[in-house]
Amino acid sequence: MAYGDFLNTRPLPERVAESLLESRRFGLTMGRLTLALGDAVNPDDVKELILASGLDLTILRYPSEHIRVAAGLLDDRLIGWHADTLLYFERAWDPTSLRPANAGNVRLVPLRAEHAGLLATTVRDVFSRYGNHYAANPYLNQEAALDGYVEWATRALGSSSNSALMLESVPDGTPLAVCTLNLESDIAEIELAGVVSGARGQGIYRTLLDHVEHWLQARGKSGVVISTQPGTRTAIRAWTERGYKYALGVNTMHLMPSESFRRLAARN
Ligand SMILES: CC(C)(COP(=O)(O)OP(=O)(O)OC[C@H]1O[C@@H](n2cnc3c(N)ncnc32)[C@H](O)[C@@H]1OP(=O)(O)O)[C@@H](O)C(=O)NCCC(=O)NCCS
Repeated sequence: MAYGDFLNTRPLPERVAESLLESRRFGLTMGRLTLALGDAVNPDDVKELILASGLDLTILRYPSEHIRVAAGLLDDRLIGWHADTLLYFERAWDPTSLRPANAGNVRLVPLRAEHAGLLATTVRDVFSRYGNHYAANPYLNQEAALDGYVEWATRALGSSSNSALMLESVPDGTPLAVCTLNLESDIAEIELAGVVSGARGQGIYRTLLDHVEHWLQARGKSGVVISTQPGTRTAIRAWTERGYKYALGVNTMHLMPSESFRRLAARN
């Protein structure tokens, strides 16, 4: 979900967009609905839209300011729960204030299509126990959720607006950390970032951020935005240490028509 999607006020869509990739991956019909900061939100309208979709599961994301939405969606026809919260942090930089990126024993390498296998293996390792909103749903297979992360990351390789970067050790080229970026706007968005399981606790995440910030600055970007769940303390501490400012909180709800909920509960 791109950060900008939460900022651009718009009317409620006519229908919930079905997410075919997720439906195929998890074996139930799934859709996505996103509300933005300035939207005039009537929970009854949102509820009717979700019920009319007929989808088994709608993943609703909305800025935390819409405090009345959650309770207003639930009744005997629609079951739902809070699946996660995303905290967005942003930094617009003055190029002279970037921390130096130590180039001694690591380097940042842009990945290309031929690196798809390496990227997949690395993302699988980094995110194997990551607690995202899929993990809050007992009806979603967690291996399939990890496959989704891999698919999301590798899609960056064939795209003109996204990039995947690997931090590797020098001279042996061992992967240490990985990052995917959405470069569509002047403020780049870090979509995925993490350190391989065998290299944690040594400051590699901070080194990754140093290198990524310089890489972006060299490409004319004026800043960066990034998000995670409130429980990912190490990442949030790293961002605040280097001057990232808290920008936006977004809640995720998983909503299921009660018939789908009963059917899937019986299946599990
Ligand atoms: C969260 C994550 C990125 C941290 O990576 P990391 O390289 O282990 O992070 P660091 O080494 O910089 O920091 C880990 C801890 O070691 C400390 N540390 C930093 N430099 C250190 C060093 N040179 N030596 C020893 N410890 C160090 C940090 O202060 C931090 O402590 P804290 O958690 O109490 O703040 C990593 O665990 C990960 O990839 N997790 C899964 C994916 C994820 O959560 N991504 C981030 C959100 S998108």
